Amino acid sequence: MTWSHQATSQEQRFPIASISNESRLVFPSPKDLDRAWDLGIFYLKVPDSLDLDGARQFGGELIAPDSSYRQIPKYGELEGFIALENNQQTKLALRRHHWDQHYPAAIAEFGRQLDQIGITILREVFHQSGIPETVWDRASGGYSAGAGTAFLNFVHYDTRNPDQGLRPHTDYGFITILDITAPGLQIKVNGTFEDVPVLPGHLAIHFGEALNFITLHSDRTVGAVEHQVLSQKSTDPVRHGIVYFANPDLDGMLWQFDAKGEIRGSSSVEDLFALLEKNLTEYR
Ligand SMILES: [Fe+2]
Repeated sequence: MTWSHQATSQEQRFPIASISNESRLVFPSPKDLDRAWDLGIFYLKVPDSLDLDGARQFGGELIAPDSSYRQIPKYGELEGFIALENNQQTKLALRRHHWDQHYPAAIAEFGRQLDQIGITILREVFHQSGIPETVWDRASGGYSAGAGTAFLNFVHYDTRNPDQGLRPHTDYGFITILDITAPGLQIKVNGTFEDVPVLPGHLAIHFGEALNFITLHSDRTVGAVEHQVLSQKSTDPVRHGIVYFANPDLDGMLWQFDAKGEIRGSSSVEDLFALLEKNLTEYR
C-alpha cells in the first residue's frame, strides 16, 4: 500500500479537526465530531502560530546521553528525567509550575500554547455535554479557566531495552496532545489495536479518564481511549515525541454535573487516579 493510499483510508477512520479563528474546535461535519467522540481520538491541524519544529528539535537534543537536561532533579515520581519500568519510553516530564525554571523560554511558551489548545478542546467537550458553562471551571478542577495542572513531556524510546514501547493503558487526565513523528502508536477500536499513522502537519488528541469521569452524567459522555506503542527496534528511526497532558490539580477535586447543572457525583483526583491504577494493575 502506498503512503497516499494509506493516508486516505486512515483519514477516513480518524477524524481531523482544526481550531477556528474564534478559538473553537471545529470538524468538517457533525459525523466527524461524532466519530471523534466515539473513538476518543482525533487529529488536530497544527495551528500556524505553534513552533512545533523548535519543540521537536529540543526534544531530539534530549536523547544525547550527555544532555544537561538529564540532570533535572526528580520531583516526586512524576517529574524529572524518568525511564519507565517495563516500557521503552524514557521521558523528561515537568508540570506547568516548573516549566519556566527548567525549560528554555521558548519551550515554556510552547507549553502555554498547548494549554490554550487543551482548554479549547475541553470547552468543546463541555459544549457538547450540555453541562452549563457556569460550572465548567469547578467540574474540571480549574483546568478550563487556565488553572489545574499540565505536564509537558519530551519522550523517546530506548531500544536498548527489549520491552514494549508503551504497554496498553488509558491516560488519566482530561486530554492528551501528542506530536508523533514515527509509527508505533495504536489505539483499541472494537477490541482490536489499530495503527494511528503519522499525519504530517497534525497532532493526535486523546481523551482521558478524568474527562470520562466529569462527563459521565451529562448529555454526552466521552470515553478514554486505550492505546499502546509497539516495541521499537534499534534499526528503526529513533522515535521521539512531545506529550502534553491536560490534568486537574492532582490534590484537587472533580465534580460530575448533569445538563441541569446538578451535582451527580464527585471524587478527589487522588482517589480517582488510585482506582485507575488499581484497575490497570489487575488488568495486566
Ligand atoms: Fe498514554
